[in-house]
Amino acid sequence: MKGLILAAGRGTRLRPLTHTRPKPVIRVAGRPILHYAVENLREAGVEEIGVVVSPETEKDIREALAGYPVRYILQEEPQGLAHAVAVAQGFLGPSPFVLYLGDNLFQRGIGRFLGAFREGVSAVIALVRVEDPRQFGVALLEGERVVRLLEKPQDPPSDLAVAGVYVFTPEVFPVIGDLKPSARGEYEITDAIQGLIDRGKRVVGVEVEGWWKDTGRPKDLLDANRLLLEELSPRVEGEVEGSELTGRVVVERGARVVGSTVIGPAFIGEGAVVEGAYVGPFTSIGPGARVVRSEVEYSILEDQAVLEDVAPRLQESILGVRAEVKSRNGLPRAHRLILGDLSQVELA
Ligand code: DAU
Repeated sequence: MKGLILAAGRGTRLRPLTHTRPKPVIRVAGRPILHYAVENLREAGVEEIGVVVSPETEKDIREALAGYPVRYILQEEPQGLAHAVAVAQGFLGPSPFVLYLGDNLFQRGIGRFLGAFREGVSAVIALVRVEDPRQFGVALLEGERVVRLLEKPQDPPSDLAVAGVYVFTPEVFPVIGDLKPSARGEYEITDAIQGLIDRGKRVVGVEVEGWWKDTGRPKDLLDANRLLLEELSPRVEGEVEGSELTGRVVVERGARVVGSTVIGPAFIGEGAVVEGAYVGPFTSIGPGARVVRSEVEYSILEDQAVLEDVAPRLQESILGVRAEVKSRNGLPRAHRLILGDLSQVELA
């Protein structure tokens, strides 16, 4: 079975983070979100993997997946998930395949959904019970069988949201060919699945075990970071000097922790510098980032981000690649900000 990861969207809900880089390359617990997708597919026995990229995301996605033997498929415009699948038809060929949304994370992998795929089933979809299903695809079940599927309904028929993994047979291609764009102007995979149901095909829903995250909003990224850090095995390969490390802490090769307190779970990436600092629980410091005379917790710092003289503590924050927060001590006490469009700063 082949696997198809979608990574061509615009990530509008994560702006400004996604102004310059696509969502699936953002690091959670030290690794790009996409790594988890590729590894979940491989663990489930899917070896041949295609990744749908757009002209804007291709470069970053290729960089994030360097070393992974995957095929890249270009979707010129993000016209919807079903459109992305149609673009990849040549790669997918005449066999069943797994579709994996590149911004989704599954704690326990995806073996369960592939396991439910069998003769006579046209599609398997992953489902998860959520409090507010209105921001997802929503399924109505009779037994294991999906009888109705709606995309982001105002009045959801159940609390079963569609999570981002699907197994399809090639029967889906002609259905996609007949689709019309939805109200938001996209060719929806949800409509394609409803099309299969309308043609009398068997679509099976399988509930997710363990946690699942759609990393659509900044809060979700922080939450995913927390959940993944909770499963971290401690490991110190970098240099630690005059510092206290408590709980599960990873200090990667080439990182330096000097005169600092780190309370895990926390991840300090390759070549990062933590000096005279406090790094609290659920924090990931990206490769080459610097945290100097600063306090930070429950946050993500991406590659080469900088915190200097930042106190009181920074929390629930996400700093993009090479983003800098520096504080000037002494008087006058003033803030100096150079912020791109849609940046968000909360001064407490
Ligand atoms: O996360 C689960 C939800 O994902 C489901 O509940 C929904 O039924 C499903 O439609 C989808 O909704 P989203 O609105 O969250 O999808 P999003 O636009 O965020 O796209 C998901 C991934 O697919 C993302 O990594 C970008 C990629 N993508 C998206 C579009 C629109 C493409 O590769 N091509 C595209 O044209």
